[in-house]
Amino acid sequence: MKKITVGALLLSMMFAGVNAQSLKSPDGKFEMNFQLKQGVPYYNLKYNGAVVVEDSKLGLRLFKDSAIKFASEIAKAEDAKFDLNNGFTKTDEKRDAKNETWQPVLGEKKNYINHYNELAVTLDQASTDRSIVVKFRLFNDGLGFRYEFPQQKNLNYFVIREEDSEIDFPTDMKAWWIVADYDSQEYQYQETKISEIPAQWDKAFDANASQTLVKNAVQSPLMLKKEGKDPLYVNVAEAAVLDYPASHLEVDAQNFKFKTHLTADRQGAKGYIQTPSVTPWRTIIVSPKAEEVMDSKMIFNLNEPTKYTDTSYIHPTKYMGVWWEMIIGKSQWAYSTAENVHLGKTDFSKLTPNGKHAANNTKVKEYIDFAAENGFKGLLIEGWNTGWEDWFGHSKEFVFDFITPYPDFDIKMLNDYAHSKGIKLIMHHETSGSATNYERWSDKAFQLMNKYGYDAVKTGYVGDIIPRGEHHYSQWTINHFYRIAEKANEYKIMVNSHESVRPTGESRTYPNYISAEAARGTEYEAFGGNKPDHQTLLPFTRWMGGSMDYTPGIFQTKLDYYFPGDKRFVKTTLAKQLALYVTMYMPLQMAADLPENYKKHMDAFQFIKDVAADWDDTKILSAEPGDYVVTARKAKGTDNWFVGGITDENKREYTVDFSFLDKGKKYEVTVYEDGKDADYIDNPQSYNIYKKQITSKSKLNFKMARSGGFAVSVKPVN
Ligand code: NOJ
Ligand code: CA
Repeated sequence: MKKITVGALLLSMMFAGVNAQSLKSPDGKFEMNFQLKQGVPYYNLKYNGAVVVEDSKLGLRLFKDSAIKFASEIAKAEDAKFDLNNGFTKTDEKRDAKNETWQPVLGEKKNYINHYNELAVTLDQASTDRSIVVKFRLFNDGLGFRYEFPQQKNLNYFVIREEDSEIDFPTDMKAWWIVADYDSQEYQYQETKISEIPAQWDKAFDANASQTLVKNAVQSPLMLKKEGKDPLYVNVAEAAVLDYPASHLEVDAQNFKFKTHLTADRQGAKGYIQTPSVTPWRTIIVSPKAEEVMDSKMIFNLNEPTKYTDTSYIHPTKYMGVWWEMIIGKSQWAYSTAENVHLGKTDFSKLTPNGKHAANNTKVKEYIDFAAENGFKGLLIEGWNTGWEDWFGHSKEFVFDFITPYPDFDIKMLNDYAHSKGIKLIMHHETSGSATNYERWSDKAFQLMNKYGYDAVKTGYVGDIIPRGEHHYSQWTINHFYRIAEKANEYKIMVNSHESVRPTGESRTYPNYISAEAARGTEYEAFGGNKPDHQTLLPFTRWMGGSMDYTPGIFQTKLDYYFPGDKRFVKTTLAKQLALYVTMYMPLQMAADLPENYKKHMDAFQFIKDVAADWDDTKILSAEPGDYVVTARKAKGTDNWFVGGITDENKREYTVDFSFLDKGKKYEVTVYEDGKDADYIDNPQSYNIYKKQITSKSKLNFKMARSGGFAVSVKPVN
């Protein structure tokens, strides 16, 4: 427990009950209390009567001048009288409640339940004649709150210096975290106590193509656990980050306290606001069960329903890609040996081919043939367009035009060929961070996609953002990501975006923004590796606000197969790769390995061919952050279930109780499990496949190897 002085205790007791508003969750388990202490707003949160969050301060600091033009303005001294964090009196209080069920266009379940009680308090700051509203929504799985800024005489435009929302925990909890950065989330998770974060922080990152670290701060979603007799799992995140910077969490290690730290823009400002306006929601999901935290849909519920009038073009897709061979260095995105190219001027047909360009007519046709033969509907092709010779690291603005194919990529012929086999090619728009250039070309790029029948695009933002000095998670860039989503919707195109900001439930509002990468994906297995517990943490963190393009399915995990002596390897067994298709929700789901590797394991590949990508139901059967995840999902519109289980660097056993199946029905399961001698280092390709008849009364035991797993497809027997 942290030390509280007697004076502070007396003071808080004096103010308790004075001017305090209480809000309960629909099931009565949570209680949130709001109060003003000497004009400063505070909230706390209790679960089953126990304090989960102690009195924590709310408020924002602003710049004096709402027309900030130069960075020098930012350097001017702070003045409390401009801030929205003090001198308040409560002038109004409104209560509301909702219990609705809504259907995501693509989702983990058919129905998402949005059930909460709401309290909105209006706070007046007499000295400046301004008022704000703090809105709380208390769900059965936790709390969301945000600031609202009504339009008023003295609050039309302002610039945020910092949002200072605090979350003050009473005890030192276990934390799973990655370092805060304005430009990247591609880090390994650390497991420490809150109090140990600063000591570990300097050792917790490696280099990135774009990197602006925030010392002693961590990213959200942040996963926490109060250990002991009555464990409690807590997830701290945000929802609906729109027209606002993404936030990080500054750590006060002595007091087990976190404070919002917004991503600065190129001037150092943290949000340009025109009223009426609202901030994103700060979210705190709490449960004694880790599974319930992972299952929470609170972040989606806090986003607005979509205004799109037509979502019929949005569909789940399993896809392959001309991709992994470039990631591991076997092939290249670039066509030529040139190091400096000028779009519109360089004649690419005259350049010397580097001989390693993968996106060529012959190879793409081979991929199309294999993908079509195995029932895939999509094929991603990277490196199809001119510009890759000097694609990032040069602060080059006009880096791609997104419409000019390389000389060896016949866009018409390849699309016709793909369509004749039931495949749609998936477009790739790497922007190299040059967002201004992408905005300039996006209409032409999407028109080209419509012309040739592409309906999905993978975008990418490797390197520093242009406008220069902006960050991947600053307000301007976040607006860019959703502008592109809206524009893609005009052209009926689905978006899967890499190196963009992590989603915070926006797929409810922008259902064509299917997913993002925005974390350390499979590619990092070739760039330094992902720890064996990585995939057990992502569903508790990155996935809380939306699906991730993790790109699973690597069967040839050891890269010395391609390059003798190469020490790099994907740190899982083959069976674990299969299980990821169930434990990782992704409606645009990739089978990332090369056809030649699948051809050697067609029996195991069958699971990837069979598994669904969109679901009517999901049950998190068992999960512990950093250790294991076992998930069962029911495929959309069918009675087929799929079960996946994964473990970290430890061997583990798990018995699946199939009581979630329909009573009285017979099912046939196909089990894909680690072989007896499987091991992610010594024998990753050892697996065992068997079939069996089961009912809802059946239980099956699985033994997972180190960084292993199991995958099961379950089909009713007619
Ligand atoms: C990084 C992306 O995450 C990866 O998937 C892509 O292949 C490269 N950038 C090139 O765009
Ligand atoms: Ca572990």
